[in-house]
Amino acid sequence: MDQAYLDLKAWLEQTRDEPLEGMDTFFDLRIDEYEAHMSPWQAHYQWMAELLPDGIGTLLDIGCGSGLELDTVFQRFPSLQVTGIDLSEKMLDRLVQKHGGRALTVIQEDYFLHPFESAYFDAAVSFQTLHHFSAEKKTRLFSKLYGSLKPGGVYLECDYVAKTQEIETLCASECERRRLRDGITSDRFIHFDTPLTLEHEIQSMKAAGFGQVEVVGYLPGDDHTPMIRALK
Ligand SMILES: C[S@@+](CC[C@H](N)C(=O)[O-])C[C@H]1O[C@@H](n2cnc3c(N)ncnc32)[C@H](O)[C@@H]1O
Repeated sequence: MDQAYLDLKAWLEQTRDEPLEGMDTFFDLRIDEYEAHMSPWQAHYQWMAELLPDGIGTLLDIGCGSGLELDTVFQRFPSLQVTGIDLSEKMLDRLVQKHGGRALTVIQEDYFLHPFESAYFDAAVSFQTLHHFSAEKKTRLFSKLYGSLKPGGVYLECDYVAKTQEIETLCASECERRRLRDGITSDRFIHFDTPLTLEHEIQSMKAAGFGQVEVVGYLPGDDHTPMIRALK
């Protein structure tokens, strides 16, 4: 077993008795420190904005939170029509405080359930929101994203992946153990990381219909947070 696996296993053991937290309350409770906590990702946010194609008019951001990726996107596209969806009321409040004057629609809802407009968006993005879900759930979500994009539309995803199959399996089984322990059924969202391997992430996108899926790359010093681009 590699060192990353052993470190993760030790950390899961140390925290094994911690109660699970609901996804929305997790972020609602941390709103005051959230943006400072995410500041190391600034270069990734900038990169995502740079990768959006010239001339887009509509963008969907799933799990937009307080809009850290949108801060950089709006610098490049000040008039872009953006739809942002998130579970956390407090994160969305912060987004509206920052960008309420823009062409921004916010939706407080589960992105697995919300029916997105068909063939409406030029582009879609997600940043660090999908590392909690199974391949099956993601494939269903990616199918909806695919349907919501115009032909030729692009989906950019920046999120961390499990470096090995053993890590993916360990996280999933520990999540299941804690859910059973706390009596939380799989239909309720909890904040516990269960990243997929890069291979499984890409497979889920392809299974949803994206014909062309590529890893654009990684930023220096980071080997587990790929930027992925999928084209309709
Ligand atoms: C780590 S934050 C990332 C927020 C933002 N993209 C950023 O990079 O700052 C993850 C966000 O995903 C949201 N989220 C997680 N699962 C969701 C779901 N099923 N539907 C809508 N939002 C969800 C959370 O509420 C949280 O705001």
